[in-house]
Amino acid sequence: MTKELILNNGVTMPALGFGVYQAAPEETVDAVATALETGYRLIDTAAAYGNEREVGEALRRVGIPRDEVFLETKVWISDYGYDETLHAFEKSTGKLGVDQLDLLILHQALPTRFDLTVGAYRALERLLADGRVAAIGVSNFMVEHLDRLAAETSIIPAVNQIEAHPYFSQRAVQEADAAVGTVTQAWSPIGGITAYRPDGASAFEDETLRAIGAAHGRTPAQVMLRWHLQQGRSALPKSVRPARIAENFDVFDFELTDAELSSIDALDTGVRRGPAPEDVTLEAFGRPIPEA
Ligand SMILES: NC(=O)c1ccc[n+]([C@@H]2O[C@H](COP(=O)([O-])OP(=O)(O)OC[C@H]3O[C@@H](n4cnc5c(N)ncnc54)[C@H](OP(=O)(O)O)[C@@H]3O)[C@@H](O)[C@H]2O)c1
Repeated sequence: MTKELILNNGVTMPALGFGVYQAAPEETVDAVATALETGYRLIDTAAAYGNEREVGEALRRVGIPRDEVFLETKVWISDYGYDETLHAFEKSTGKLGVDQLDLLILHQALPTRFDLTVGAYRALERLLADGRVAAIGVSNFMVEHLDRLAAETSIIPAVNQIEAHPYFSQRAVQEADAAVGTVTQAWSPIGGITAYRPDGASAFEDETLRAIGAAHGRTPAQVMLRWHLQQGRSALPKSVRPARIAENFDVFDFELTDAELSSIDALDTGVRRGPAPEDVTLEAFGRPIPEA
Protein backbone atom coordinates (compact mmCIF):
# COMPACT_ATOMS: atom_id res chain seq x y z
CA MET A 1 0.00 0.00 0.00
CA THR A 2 1.39 3.32 -0.97
CA LYS A 3 0.53 6.78 0.27
CA GLU A 4 0.85 8.10 -3.26
CA LEU A 5 -0.50 7.05 -6.63
CA ILE A 6 1.26 7.67 -9.93
CA LEU A 7 -1.23 8.87 -12.53
CA ASN A 8 -1.13 7.71 -16.15
CA ASN A 9 0.89 10.78 -17.19
CA GLY A 10 3.48 10.33 -14.43
CA VAL A 11 2.03 12.91 -12.04
CA THR A 12 2.08 11.90 -8.36
CA MET A 13 -1.17 12.22 -6.38
CA PRO A 14 -1.68 11.53 -2.68
CA ALA A 15 -3.99 8.51 -2.37
CA LEU A 16 -5.92 9.91 0.58
CA GLY A 17 -7.54 13.30 0.14
CA PHE A 18 -10.01 15.60 1.82
CA GLY A 19 -13.47 16.32 0.39
CA VAL A 20 -15.57 19.42 0.95
CA TYR A 21 -18.95 18.58 -0.59
CA GLN A 22 -21.68 19.75 1.80
CA ALA A 23 -19.17 21.65 3.88
CA ALA A 24 -20.94 24.99 4.22
CA PRO A 25 -18.81 27.92 3.01
CA GLU A 26 -18.53 29.24 6.59
CA GLU A 27 -17.23 25.83 7.78
CA THR A 28 -14.97 25.14 4.84
CA VAL A 29 -12.03 27.43 5.68
CA ASP A 30 -11.57 25.93 9.13
CA ALA A 31 -12.13 22.36 7.91
CA VAL A 32 -9.61 22.61 5.07
CA ALA A 33 -7.08 24.43 7.27
CA THR A 34 -7.45 21.68 9.89
CA ALA A 35 -7.05 19.01 7.20
CA LEU A 36 -3.87 20.64 5.86
CA GLU A 37 -2.47 20.98 9.38
CA THR A 38 -3.32 17.31 9.99
CA GLY A 39 -1.28 16.30 6.97
CA TYR A 40 -3.74 15.93 4.08
CA ARG A 41 -2.14 17.11 0.84
CA LEU A 42 -5.00 16.43 -1.59
CA ILE A 43 -8.07 18.67 -1.46
CA ASP A 44 -11.10 17.86 -3.62
CA THR A 45 -13.65 20.57 -4.34
CA ALA A 46 -15.96 21.41 -7.26
CA ALA A 47 -17.42 24.47 -8.92
CA ALA A 48 -20.84 23.10 -7.97
CA TYR A 49 -20.01 22.95 -4.25
CA GLY A 50 -19.95 26.73 -3.95
CA ASN A 51 -16.89 26.71 -1.68
CA GLU A 52 -13.87 27.03 -3.98
CA ARG A 53 -13.20 30.50 -2.62
CA GLU A 54 -13.05 29.15 0.95
CA VAL A 55 -10.73 26.31 -0.08
CA GLY A 56 -8.38 28.92 -1.55
CA GLU A 57 -8.62 31.00 1.61
CA ALA A 58 -7.63 27.98 3.73
CA LEU A 59 -4.63 27.27 1.48
CA ARG A 60 -3.45 30.84 1.93
CA ARG A 61 -4.15 30.83 5.66
CA VAL A 62 -2.09 27.70 6.30
CA GLY A 63 0.62 28.94 3.97
CA ILE A 64 1.75 25.59 2.62
CA PRO A 65 3.64 26.16 -0.63
CA ARG A 66 1.32 25.72 -3.61
CA ASP A 67 3.41 22.92 -5.08
CA GLU A 68 3.04 20.83 -1.92
CA VAL A 69 -0.75 20.61 -2.15
CA PHE A 70 -2.58 18.61 -4.81
CA LEU A 71 -5.64 20.67 -5.72
CA GLU A 72 -8.53 19.06 -7.55
CA THR A 73 -11.76 20.63 -8.75
CA LYS A 74 -14.59 19.79 -11.14
CA VAL A 75 -16.36 21.46 -14.02
CA TRP A 76 -20.14 21.48 -13.63
CA ILE A 77 -22.42 20.40 -16.53
CA SER A 78 -23.81 23.88 -17.11
CA ASP A 79 -20.29 24.85 -18.22
CA TYR A 80 -19.83 22.00 -20.72
CA GLY A 81 -18.78 22.71 -24.29
CA TYR A 82 -15.25 23.67 -25.37
CA ASP A 83 -15.27 27.45 -24.84
CA GLU A 84 -17.51 27.23 -21.80
CA THR A 85 -15.18 24.79 -20.06
CA LEU A 86 -12.12 26.91 -20.82
CA HIS A 87 -14.00 29.73 -19.13
CA ALA A 88 -15.00 27.44 -16.23
CA PHE A 89 -11.28 26.86 -15.60
CA GLU A 90 -10.82 30.64 -15.30
CA LYS A 91 -13.78 30.88 -12.91
CA SER A 92 -12.51 28.08 -10.67
CA THR A 93 -8.89 29.22 -10.57
CA GLY A 94 -10.08 32.78 -9.93
CA LYS A 95 -12.15 31.67 -6.94
CA LEU A 96 -9.39 29.39 -5.64
CA GLY A 97 -6.80 32.11 -6.15
CA VAL A 98 -4.37 29.84 -8.03
CA ASP A 99 -2.86 29.87 -11.53
CA GLN A 100 -2.77 26.15 -12.06
CA LEU A 101 -4.68 23.05 -10.95
CA ASP A 102 -3.28 19.61 -10.23
CA LEU A 103 -6.37 17.79 -11.44
CA LEU A 104 -9.44 19.07 -13.28
CA ILE A 105 -12.28 16.64 -13.91
CA LEU A 106 -15.70 16.65 -15.53
CA HIS A 107 -18.23 16.28 -12.70
CA GLN A 108 -20.68 14.10 -14.64
CA ALA A 109 -21.23 12.70 -18.11
CA LEU A 110 -24.20 14.25 -19.90
CA PRO A 111 -25.50 11.16 -21.71
CA THR A 112 -28.15 13.07 -23.66
CA ARG A 113 -25.66 15.80 -24.66
CA PHE A 114 -22.50 13.79 -25.09
CA ASP A 115 -21.40 16.32 -27.70
CA LEU A 116 -21.12 18.91 -24.92
CA THR A 117 -19.32 16.38 -22.70
CA VAL A 118 -16.78 15.75 -25.46
CA GLY A 119 -16.35 19.49 -26.04
CA ALA A 120 -15.72 19.96 -22.32
CA TYR A 121 -13.16 17.15 -22.25
CA ARG A 122 -11.37 18.57 -25.29
CA ALA A 123 -11.06 21.81 -23.35
CA LEU A 124 -9.43 19.84 -20.52
CA GLU A 125 -7.03 18.36 -23.08
CA ARG A 126 -6.18 21.90 -24.22
CA LEU A 127 -5.59 23.05 -20.62
CA LEU A 128 -3.34 20.05 -20.07
CA ALA A 129 -1.35 20.81 -23.23
CA ASP A 130 -0.99 24.42 -22.09
CA GLY A 131 0.28 23.38 -18.64
CA ARG A 132 -2.64 24.98 -16.82
CA VAL A 133 -3.58 21.62 -15.27
CA ALA A 134 -1.22 18.77 -14.40
CA ALA A 135 -3.79 16.03 -15.02
CA ILE A 136 -7.35 15.64 -16.30
CA GLY A 137 -10.14 13.20 -15.63
CA VAL A 138 -13.80 12.51 -15.11
CA SER A 139 -16.32 11.72 -12.41
CA ASN A 140 -19.38 9.50 -12.33
CA PHE A 141 -18.47 8.03 -15.72
CA MET A 142 -19.95 4.57 -16.20
CA VAL A 143 -18.34 2.04 -18.53
CA GLU A 144 -20.37 3.18 -21.55
CA HIS A 145 -19.43 6.82 -20.90
CA LEU A 146 -15.73 5.90 -20.68
CA ASP A 147 -16.02 4.01 -23.96
CA ARG A 148 -17.80 6.88 -25.73
CA LEU A 149 -15.26 9.37 -24.45
CA ALA A 150 -12.33 7.19 -25.55
CA ALA A 151 -13.83 6.94 -29.04
CA GLU A 152 -13.95 10.72 -29.45
CA THR A 153 -10.97 12.11 -27.53
CA SER A 154 -7.23 11.42 -27.30
CA ILE A 155 -6.21 11.42 -23.65
CA ILE A 156 -7.27 8.67 -21.27
CA PRO A 157 -8.64 10.16 -18.02
CA ALA A 158 -6.08 10.05 -15.23
CA VAL A 159 -8.85 9.66 -12.65
CA ASN A 160 -12.49 8.57 -12.56
CA GLN A 161 -14.09 9.74 -9.31
CA ILE A 162 -17.12 7.56 -8.52
CA GLU A 163 -19.40 6.64 -5.65
CA ALA A 164 -17.51 3.82 -3.93
CA HIS A 165 -17.99 2.47 -0.41
CA PRO A 166 -18.52 -1.03 0.97
CA TYR A 167 -22.24 -1.01 0.13
CA PHE A 168 -21.70 0.08 -3.50
CA SER A 169 -18.28 -0.60 -4.90
CA GLN A 170 -18.88 -0.51 -8.67
CA ARG A 171 -16.48 -3.32 -9.58
CA ALA A 172 -17.28 -3.10 -13.30
CA VAL A 173 -16.34 0.58 -13.44
CA GLN A 174 -13.23 -0.09 -11.36
CA GLU A 175 -12.20 -2.83 -13.78
CA ALA A 176 -12.81 -0.57 -16.79
CA ASP A 177 -10.71 2.14 -15.13
CA ALA A 178 -7.92 -0.28 -14.31
CA ALA A 179 -7.89 -1.74 -17.83
CA VAL A 180 -6.76 1.62 -19.25
CA GLY A 181 -4.68 2.82 -16.28
CA THR A 182 -7.25 5.26 -14.87
CA VAL A 183 -7.17 5.62 -11.07
CA THR A 184 -10.53 5.04 -9.41
CA GLN A 185 -11.13 7.71 -6.81
CA ALA A 186 -13.84 6.99 -4.25
CA TRP A 187 -16.41 9.59 -3.33
CA SER A 188 -18.45 8.96 -0.21
CA PRO A 189 -15.58 6.58 0.64
CA ILE A 190 -16.74 5.99 4.20
CA GLY A 191 -20.33 5.63 3.14
CA GLY A 192 -21.36 9.09 4.25
CA ILE A 193 -24.11 8.95 1.69
CA THR A 194 -25.55 5.92 3.48
CA ALA A 195 -25.76 7.93 6.68
CA TYR A 196 -27.48 10.89 5.00
CA ARG A 197 -30.36 8.67 3.89
CA PRO A 198 -33.10 7.63 6.30
CA ASP A 199 -34.03 4.56 4.26
CA GLY A 200 -30.95 2.41 4.73
CA ALA A 201 -28.43 1.23 7.29
CA SER A 202 -25.41 3.44 7.82
CA ALA A 203 -22.02 1.96 7.04
CA PHE A 204 -20.75 3.50 10.28
CA GLU A 205 -23.02 1.03 12.16
CA ASP A 206 -22.14 -2.00 10.06
CA GLU A 207 -21.39 -5.10 12.17
CA THR A 208 -18.72 -6.49 9.82
CA LEU A 209 -16.87 -3.19 9.72
CA ARG A 210 -17.17 -2.80 13.48
CA ALA A 211 -15.82 -6.30 14.08
CA ILE A 212 -12.85 -5.76 11.75
CA GLY A 213 -12.24 -2.40 13.39
CA ALA A 214 -12.35 -3.95 16.86
CA ALA A 215 -9.72 -6.51 15.80
CA HIS A 216 -7.34 -3.65 14.93
CA GLY A 217 -8.45 -1.09 17.51
CA ARG A 218 -9.86 1.04 14.69
CA THR A 219 -13.17 2.65 13.74
CA PRO A 220 -15.40 1.59 10.84
CA ALA A 221 -14.37 4.76 8.97
CA GLN A 222 -10.69 3.86 9.32
CA VAL A 223 -11.40 0.30 8.15
CA MET A 224 -13.23 1.58 5.06
CA LEU A 225 -10.42 3.97 4.18
CA ARG A 226 -7.81 1.27 4.61
CA TRP A 227 -9.86 -1.03 2.34
CA HIS A 228 -9.77 1.61 -0.42
CA LEU A 229 -6.08 2.33 -0.03
CA GLN A 230 -5.00 -1.31 0.09
CA GLN A 231 -7.00 -1.97 -3.08
CA GLY A 232 -5.27 0.88 -4.91
CA ARG A 233 -8.03 3.47 -4.90
CA SER A 234 -7.81 7.11 -3.99
CA ALA A 235 -10.33 8.10 -1.29
CA LEU A 236 -11.76 11.49 -0.30
CA PRO A 237 -13.41 11.45 3.14
CA LYS A 238 -15.18 14.63 4.19
CA SER A 239 -15.65 15.95 7.71
CA VAL A 240 -15.95 19.36 9.28
CA ARG A 241 -15.02 18.02 12.75
CA PRO A 242 -11.35 18.14 13.78
CA ALA A 243 -11.45 14.80 15.65
CA ARG A 244 -12.88 12.99 12.61
CA ILE A 245 -10.53 14.82 10.21
CA ALA A 246 -7.67 13.40 12.28
CA GLU A 247 -9.29 9.95 12.61
CA ASN A 248 -9.75 9.67 8.86
CA PHE A 249 -6.09 10.48 8.22
CA ASP A 250 -4.79 8.03 10.83
CA VAL A 251 -4.91 4.99 8.57
CA PHE A 252 -1.32 4.40 7.57
CA ASP A 253 -0.11 2.15 10.37
CA PHE A 254 -2.33 -0.91 10.27
CA GLU A 255 -3.01 -3.54 7.65
CA LEU A 256 -6.20 -5.43 6.77
CA THR A 257 -5.79 -9.10 5.92
CA ASP A 258 -6.89 -10.54 2.58
CA ALA A 259 -9.79 -12.25 4.36
CA GLU A 260 -10.88 -8.93 5.87
CA LEU A 261 -10.68 -7.19 2.50
CA SER A 262 -12.81 -9.97 0.98
CA SER A 263 -15.43 -9.73 3.71
CA ILE A 264 -15.70 -5.98 3.07
CA ASP A 265 -16.01 -6.65 -0.67
CA ALA A 266 -18.89 -8.99 0.15
CA LEU A 267 -20.91 -6.12 1.68
CA ASP A 268 -21.62 -4.74 -1.80
CA THR A 269 -25.38 -4.47 -2.34
CA GLY A 270 -25.16 -3.27 -5.92
CA VAL A 271 -27.52 -0.45 -4.95
CA ARG A 272 -26.41 3.07 -5.75
CA ARG A 273 -27.13 5.77 -3.13
CA GLY A 274 -26.23 8.84 -5.18
CA PRO A 275 -27.89 10.14 -8.35
CA ALA A 276 -27.93 7.72 -11.29
CA PRO A 277 -25.29 8.98 -13.75
CA GLU A 278 -27.43 8.03 -16.75
CA ASP A 279 -30.24 10.35 -15.56
CA VAL A 280 -28.14 13.52 -15.32
CA THR A 281 -29.49 16.14 -17.72
CA LEU A 282 -29.01 19.87 -18.15
CA GLU A 283 -32.73 20.34 -17.65
CA ALA A 284 -32.76 18.61 -14.26
CA PHE A 285 -29.33 19.58 -12.89
CA GLY A 286 -27.97 22.45 -14.98
CA ARG A 287 -27.95 25.31 -12.50
CA PRO A 288 -25.46 28.02 -13.45
CA ILE A 289 -22.11 28.47 -11.74
CA PRO A 290 -21.56 32.10 -10.69
CA GLU A 291 -18.76 34.07 -12.34
CA ALA A 292 -17.16 35.12 -9.05
N1 LIG B 1 -18.01 13.52 -7.77
C1 LIG B 1 -19.17 13.50 -7.13
O1 LIG B 1 -20.25 13.46 -7.74
C2 LIG B 1 -19.16 13.51 -5.64
C3 LIG B 1 -20.34 13.27 -4.93
C4 LIG B 1 -20.28 13.27 -3.53
C5 LIG B 1 -19.06 13.48 -2.89
N2 LIG B 1 -17.93 13.74 -3.61
C6 LIG B 1 -16.61 14.00 -2.97
O2 LIG B 1 -16.37 12.99 -1.98
C7 LIG B 1 -16.24 13.61 -0.69
C8 LIG B 1 -16.78 12.73 0.40
O3 LIG B 1 -18.11 12.32 0.12
P1 LIG B 1 -19.29 12.41 1.16
O4 LIG B 1 -19.15 13.65 1.96
O5 LIG B 1 -20.54 12.14 0.43
O6 LIG B 1 -19.10 11.14 2.08
P2 LIG B 1 -18.08 10.59 3.18
O7 LIG B 1 -16.80 11.31 3.19
O8 LIG B 1 -18.08 9.12 2.96
O9 LIG B 1 -18.86 10.88 4.54
C9 LIG B 1 -19.03 12.17 5.04
C10 LIG B 1 -20.06 12.11 6.14
O10 LIG B 1 -19.64 11.26 7.20
C11 LIG B 1 -19.40 12.02 8.39
N3 LIG B 1 -18.11 11.56 8.89
C12 LIG B 1 -16.87 11.91 8.45
N4 LIG B 1 -15.92 11.23 9.10
C13 LIG B 1 -16.56 10.41 9.97
C14 LIG B 1 -16.11 9.47 10.91
N5 LIG B 1 -14.81 9.23 11.07
N6 LIG B 1 -17.04 8.81 11.66
C15 LIG B 1 -18.36 9.06 11.50
N7 LIG B 1 -18.84 9.95 10.62
C16 LIG B 1 -17.95 10.62 9.85
C17 LIG B 1 -19.42 13.46 7.96
O11 LIG B 1 -19.98 14.30 8.95
P3 LIG B 1 -19.15 15.53 9.62
O12 LIG B 1 -18.69 16.44 8.53
O13 LIG B 1 -20.20 16.15 10.50
O14 LIG B 1 -18.04 14.89 10.38
C18 LIG B 1 -20.36 13.43 6.75
O15 LIG B 1 -21.70 13.42 7.19
C19 LIG B 1 -17.00 14.92 -0.86
O16 LIG B 1 -16.67 15.87 0.12
C20 LIG B 1 -16.58 15.33 -2.24
O17 LIG B 1 -15.27 15.88 -2.22
C21 LIG B 1 -17.97 13.76 -4.98
